Formats: sequence, structure tokens, C-alpha cells
Amino acid sequence: MPTDDRERPVTILDFDAWKKQGRKISVLTAYDHATARWLDDAGVDCLLVGDSLGTAVQGCETTLGVTLDQMVYHAEMVGRACRRAFVVADLPFLAYQASRPQAIRSAGRILKETRCQAVKMEGGRRIAATIRAVVDAEIPVMGHVGLTPQSVRRFGGYKVQREADAIRADAQAVVEAGAFALVLECVPAALAETITAEVPIPTIGIGAGAGCDGQVLVVHDMLGLIQGFRPRFARRYAEIGDAVQQAAARFIADVQSGDFPGDSESFH
Ligand code: KIV
Repeated sequence: MPTDDRERPVTILDFDAWKKQGRKISVLTAYDHATARWLDDAGVDCLLVGDSLGTAVQGCETTLGVTLDQMVYHAEMVGRACRRAFVVADLPFLAYQASRPQAIRSAGRILKETRCQAVKMEGGRRIAATIRAVVDAEIPVMGHVGLTPQSVRRFGGYKVQREADAIRADAQAVVEAGAFALVLECVPAALAETITAEVPIPTIGIGAGAGCDGQVLVVHDMLGLIQGFRPRFARRYAEIGDAVQQAAARFIADVQSGDFPGDSESFH
């Protein structure tokens, strides 16, 4: 990546330019100020305040319970941390499905009350008119098709989505509605590659193979903070959970032995 590219804040225009240049786009989720600051300093292009907040942070089985107030709260922290990364916040379940005015008001809260530059909305043809209404209100929208976790009850679980014609039509509908980028989640790699070639906006894959224009991971998966189920697509770049456990065990031992606090850690 060229140096000047790293030094100035990313804007929506970069997504279009990067697609044309074939430059891959890095996206990670973030939910708090401290983590977002580290990720921004590392040079990630885009931070997504995902409604994966529900599963990664709140310990829920789905994202369905996440509220708009919670998203605003976390988006505000992440937005305040970023100097370079473009920040997108998810609109959570039932913050946009009820009506177009509801969607504009919800998306508007993200732009007015946080420093995020865009919102993400799940769904294809079913919500294309709603995406168009939000875009027409001058609010950039990132689309999301394939496995859309807010549809988990209709899908009957978190499964790879293989209905190629339907997913291609959904992607096209999101493009025509005016989205500036498109998340493709848990679709076969060949299908994601086809869609990436067909659409003029960058595709950001998660469990969608290497043919997308960019990749996104949930930061808790990437850092090894999630215990239990490990999605096949979630490469772990660190084992922070283990480091946390080891540090806590040392602290406990030091407290019990009287070794902590030491003289230099006390006031005189
Ligand atoms: O909520 C989220 O974190 C997401 C990403 C997994 C794309 O939608």
C-alpha cells in the first residue's frame, strides 16, 4: 500500500478506486475504543461496528437482540478512536425492516450521533427499496447478502448459502439500490468470484473465498477471544484469550503470595 494512502483518512471514494485498481480491502469488526485504536494504528482500511456485537461481546446465540441504542453506543466509541479507517455501523434487526422512514431515522442516528461514515444493511431484493431510501437521504450503505445472520430464523441456522441465481439477483438489487460496497457471507468461493466480476462495487467476503475484493473478519475470532465454536473461515492470527488467562493466573498467584503490589507499585 502506498504511504500516502495510509496517512489520510479513508473515504467512500477509495472503495470505488480500490475496486478499479484491484487493491484488496481489509475490514475488521470493532466494538470498543481501545481495540479500534489498535486496529486503526495497524492500518486496517475499514472498521465495521457489527451487530455481531450480540454474539462476540454480549454472549448471545444470535444477533437478533441487539438494539439501535446499543449500536449507537458502540459505534460512537469506535468512531472516536479512528484516525484513518472508514467506519461502518450495522443497522440491527428491526431498526430498518418496518418501513423506509424507520430505516432513514435509524441510519440517520448513526451518522448524527457517531463518527461513522456509513451503515450496513442485510438483505437483497427484499430490502432494495429501503436501501435506496437511505442512500437518497445521503447516507452511504454497505449491503450484505448470502448468509445474513438477521435471517437466521428463516434460514433455520447458520448455513452456507448456495442458491446462486437468488444470491446473484440479490447482489444486483443492492448495487442498483445505490450501495457502495457489498458483504458476501458464507457463499461458495466460485459464486463470490462470479458476483465480484459482475458488480461494479467492491465485494467484501467472509467465508466467501479469495476472489472477493476485500475480506472481513470478526475481531474476536481473529484474535482468538471466542471460546467454543470456530468457524472454518475464521483464521486466528493471535491467541489473546490464552494470553488473558495466563496473565490473570499470574495476577491471582501474585495477590495470593503477597508479591503484588511491590514497593514500586505503592505510594509513600
Ligand atoms: O455483524 C458483523 O460483524 C458482520 C460481519 C460478520 C460481516 O456483519
